[in-house]
Amino acid sequence: MGTQQRPQLTARRADRYVLYTDSVQSTDAEIAFFRRVYRAENGRPPLVLREDFCGTAAISCDWVRRGPANRAIGVDLDDEPLRWGREHYLAQLRPDQAKRVRLIKGNVLSVRTERVDVIAALNFSFCVFKERATLMRYLTRCRAAIKPGGIMVMDIYGGPDSQKPGREKTRFKGFTYVWDQAAYNPITNEALNHIHFLFPDGTRMNKAFTYDWRLWTPAELSEALREVGFKDVRVYWEGTGADGKGNGAFRPCQRPKVEQAWIAYIVGLA
Ligand SMILES: C[S@@+](CC[C@H](N)C(=O)[O-])C[C@H]1O[C@@H](n2cnc3c(N)ncnc32)[C@H](O)[C@@H]1O
Repeated sequence: MGTQQRPQLTARRADRYVLYTDSVQSTDAEIAFFRRVYRAENGRPPLVLREDFCGTAAISCDWVRRGPANRAIGVDLDDEPLRWGREHYLAQLRPDQAKRVRLIKGNVLSVRTERVDVIAALNFSFCVFKERATLMRYLTRCRAAIKPGGIMVMDIYGGPDSQKPGREKTRFKGFTYVWDQAAYNPITNEALNHIHFLFPDGTRMNKAFTYDWRLWTPAELSEALREVGFKDVRVYWEGTGADGKGNGAFRPCQRPKVEQAWIAYIVGLA
């Protein structure tokens, strides 16, 4: 933007997908993680990614920039984020990159795709499946859609802080992000969460995004992945910095330090 000032953000002026990108997404880190884990298993980088629950397909669009043979398939039920992704991310790619992205409006429980090197189900999106039978149906299909040597990458959060209602505010340039754990049921492990955005002029975008989830545990996910035929499962735990907060470095782990809140990747090896 050079020396030009951005107009101050307000609830009316802001685009919720831009705010989501700025506050929640980190495509660089996600892609680096897939490549590191896949390369360690196969000695070469992965080429074909399927991004399930892709929303705006930010990862898919970034993926095809990383190499001329990289291809991505994004799958989401909802037209709105897919359209936004086409207009904002896909449109920024060169034609030779854009033609290597395929976006599918469809249900991950029934979609049929070619077999891929990596399936990513991130931002805890598979937690919309609240029954084990549905989760197993999804993972069975994923297993069948991954090539030998490929990986299934899921992320999950937990810890005592995730098991109670509460709000956490984080300031970003021009707005404040609020993670609102509105309700939690310790019997079913169901969690109802919202994202709100607050602006310097006092306006707010309430419930910009809402997630009605069942929080699966690493143990449940690991068992489920093995049960559908993944030959091995690894849990990559996020390290903590001096401030006690997550530092973005994920390492294989079997006995992590007990934290109030944690995030982990669960990886199935095909
Ligand atoms: C938490 S958002 C994640 C979006 C994306 N991963 C991101 O980080 O921007 C969840 C997405 O999953 C999609 N979704 C929910 N159930 C789905 C299903 N059964 N099949 C495909 N997409 C689904 C929703 O439409 C929504 O865009």
